[in-house]
Amino acid sequence: MDFKQKVVELISSQVELPKEKINSLIERPKNPEMGDYAFPAFILAKTLHKNPAEIAKDIVANLADDNFEKIQAVGPYVNFSIKKSALISQTLEEVLVKKNNYGNQNLGSGNVAIDMSSPNIAKPMSMGHLRSTVIGNSIAKILTKVGYTPIKINHLGDYGTQFGKLITAYKLWGNEEDVKKDPINSLFHYYVKFHEVAEEKPELEDEGRAWFKKLEGGDPEAVKLWNWFRKVSLQEFNRIYKKLNVEFDSYHGEAFYNDKMDVIVDELRQKDLLVESRGAQVVDLGPDKNPAMILKSDGTSIYTTRDLTAAEYRKKHYDFVQALYVVGNEQSAYFEQLKEVLKKMGHNWADDIHHIPFGLITQGGKKLSTRKGNVVFLDKVLEDAVELAMKQIETKNPGLPNKEQVANEVGIGAVVFHDLKNDRLDAFDFNLEEVVRFEGETGPYVQYTNARAQSILRKANQIVTIDELDLSDEWAFAVAKDLADFPAVLAKASEKYEPSIIAKFALKLAKHFNKYYANVRILDEDDQLAARLALVKATSIVLTESLHLLGVAAPKEM
Ligand code: ARG
Repeated sequence: MDFKQKVVELISSQVELPKEKINSLIERPKNPEMGDYAFPAFILAKTLHKNPAEIAKDIVANLADDNFEKIQAVGPYVNFSIKKSALISQTLEEVLVKKNNYGNQNLGSGNVAIDMSSPNIAKPMSMGHLRSTVIGNSIAKILTKVGYTPIKINHLGDYGTQFGKLITAYKLWGNEEDVKKDPINSLFHYYVKFHEVAEEKPELEDEGRAWFKKLEGGDPEAVKLWNWFRKVSLQEFNRIYKKLNVEFDSYHGEAFYNDKMDVIVDELRQKDLLVESRGAQVVDLGPDKNPAMILKSDGTSIYTTRDLTAAEYRKKHYDFVQALYVVGNEQSAYFEQLKEVLKKMGHNWADDIHHIPFGLITQGGKKLSTRKGNVVFLDKVLEDAVELAMKQIETKNPGLPNKEQVANEVGIGAVVFHDLKNDRLDAFDFNLEEVVRFEGETGPYVQYTNARAQSILRKANQIVTIDELDLSDEWAFAVAKDLADFPAVLAKASEKYEPSIIAKFALKLAKHFNKYYANVRILDEDDQLAARLALVKATSIVLTESLHLLGVAAPKEM
């Protein structure tokens, strides 16, 4: 039931204004004492030649409705207070009927390409890539729920001059067995060594460039090594994706565009957009902006070249209505530039491209840098979190049947939730203890609240129906109000591409439900038992769905 819509209808029965207009005028009073909705009567003063306070009184004189406990004129406003029992029963009914489809809406349709995760091969996956993975994954779920079809693309960093360097390093110091045993760390070690040695022996750089040219030219040895590096790296990344339960629709990384870039370069040339600058080919973006480099002086492509090609490819293959790039905010200027170039090429759809930036993760206030050894090993973080979850289970619920699975769901859930609960643009300092904390505003807290609701339902051991939904206490009202807000919360989260809105909502609902649990004897055998169980079930449905939208599991028992 849409109470706002009800208010619109009531007002519309009394005044000569189109419903859309009324709808746009209705306010939410800041002070709840003043009611849940207010209609300001000022707008009618001119036509009716009366002062607004009088008009408000006239409107109220003829209004009554069962859904509202009070409809009163306060100064120039008509204030509506929703009847608690009406909001509770109607909300519970809607949730219980729609189940996990509750909140689904049609805010748009069509494909949304989501460029997410996109780690660089032969390097450990960073905390930034983890953020991109979980934020992108959650946005995909949120968009699905409001009508869109997401296409999750892992734009792997599997190309570029660094692979020339890596091949050089591998040929100098590499060992096949080491790479097989511990691919990413070995490869990364060669790469770091390359840079160290190149400081003394700059000719190594030339060799690296030469190998990259060979790779671009399709030299069999270069291609074979590169393929191998890519394969073993991807195997490691997939282990992490599996733990996070994240899947992709495409793994077309930068290299995929290697043989498709000529078309773009030609297009740029034909449209007269390429100019020479110190031997390189660039697109000039005006006096206050840096030009966008397209080809280096040795004729090789760069990150931008591949991204332009990828953007055209995605438009052609997915005909996206939006293309999102979930990438750290340090690349904001870069994505602005990318859009500018596409616009200059005459692609109107460049306006449908949105960079979805997120804040940096630091440690001890310092930027994380793999090269400087200031690293967080993701695998380790996830393992530690699961181990901690297991410890908690062993002390709190040692008899739990599927301990391993629940420990996984809780540990991983803690890490993911921690990453999503703050506005995505907020930077945060990484602190393992903080990440795997289970009390307070955490994923496990929400999971635990949901498991509690499930356990109450198990104890009650009776079918929950919508026949009896009559509750009016303030604790139930607080819960029901949250439940009623869910569709609007979702709409906002999708509009702002902001999973934290869902996370904060889930925390609030969990808190209100725990207050309900603390203050109301849910399982007492009286004539409101069925209604209370309905509230418990509806809460569990919405908590489960909220966790799902964040990519966090919702164990039934923990
Ligand atoms: N691999 C890049 C990095 O680690 C991120 C790629 C983002 N996506 C893109 N289409 N540029 O910085």
